[in-house]
Amino acid sequence: MPLKTLLLITASLAIAGSTSPNLRAQGPAPTPPMGWNSWNHFAGKVTDADVRSAADAMVSSGMRDAGYVYVNVDDTWEGTRDAQGVIHSNDKFPDMKALGDYIHSKGLKFGIYSSPGPKTCAGYEASYGHEEQDAKTYASWGVDYLKYDLCSFGGIMKKADDANGGGTAAGYKLMIAAYKKMGDALKATGRPIVYSLCQYGVDDVWVWGPSVGAQLWRTTDDINDSYGRMITIGLGQSGLNSYAGHGHWNDPDMLEVGNGKMTTDEYKTHMSLWALLAAPLLAGNDLSKMSDTDKSILMNREVIAIDQDKLGVQAKQVYQHGDFSAWAKPLSGGRVAVGLINTSWSVRDLSVALKELGLTGSVKAHDVWAGKDLGTVTGTLSARIPKHGVALFVLTK
Ligand code: GAL
Repeated sequence: MPLKTLLLITASLAIAGSTSPNLRAQGPAPTPPMGWNSWNHFAGKVTDADVRSAADAMVSSGMRDAGYVYVNVDDTWEGTRDAQGVIHSNDKFPDMKALGDYIHSKGLKFGIYSSPGPKTCAGYEASYGHEEQDAKTYASWGVDYLKYDLCSFGGIMKKADDANGGGTAAGYKLMIAAYKKMGDALKATGRPIVYSLCQYGVDDVWVWGPSVGAQLWRTTDDINDSYGRMITIGLGQSGLNSYAGHGHWNDPDMLEVGNGKMTTDEYKTHMSLWALLAAPLLAGNDLSKMSDTDKSILMNREVIAIDQDKLGVQAKQVYQHGDFSAWAKPLSGGRVAVGLINTSWSVRDLSVALKELGLTGSVKAHDVWAGKDLGTVTGTLSARIPKHGVALFVLTK
């Protein structure tokens, strides 16, 4: 048996043996985190003013009241370390504690970003060798969420593998240890800080993520604002449902809704699929410039309720053939959310047998995007769906 496989089995046994699902549920992310992250829209240009204006817009647009609370600064806030090794922010972010206070004063939470390597992906100062010190600094700024991105730690892993003749598990073990080190350091601060792993979904992170103290882990490489990339990532989540649950979530990356390069139907598919996947809902657009359509997609309460449902179950793909994919997510109260996705370039009449959804007899159907009860459905659920679009239902026995 390859060493990596053996290590994975050992890690999953350790998780199964040491932590009951109920205990794992008691973390800082009992349901998938919701908020905003600076990267998809602002990338390396983000400033303190942009983040404050995102916080303002989160309140004035109604997003906060719809459940979006994390205001997360991604890469490029980092400055240099002082003589004591304490990390400081750069000129774009004059005072991180003041920024945290501002965000908190709005009833929101503050997130930041670092890497286990010496440098972040954008080449800024990262946490290698300063994990405990950085965790303490973050806590002193009032940080509530850390995204920890592998970046230059990949070089350290490669060196370890090369030194061991290449293709070994040496780098892999170092990576898990590095993620655990920061997980432990965050815990030691005594502040509840959501810990989000970003290593692009390699090495079965969903198996060992909980054991390093993470509440979520990226399952893919980066999203971008295109239908092709979004749908590849979304549909690619099939099979990961058993690794998500209260307090620990698969993260197919941040939302692109409102960034302008997809159609309204495509953004509705994006939002529906992420909700079915019980994915973190981290808006990635410029919140200060949202159209009514962007708002109606990001703030659709029924879609958000599917994502945040208290059962905490991620959807399964129940059917896939050609341009048609159907997903079912069990909800509390014996209900089931169902997404029928048309990936073709033309309008399609699509249907799925209720028995494929694990249902028999008749159900009451509610069309989520139309906000309309459809009455009783027997045998087959059908919908006419625009190109690249979705029909999203909640079915009740
Ligand atoms: C990538 C990461 C992105 C963003 C970027 C910042 O590795 O996947 O989400 O954080 O780094 O440099």
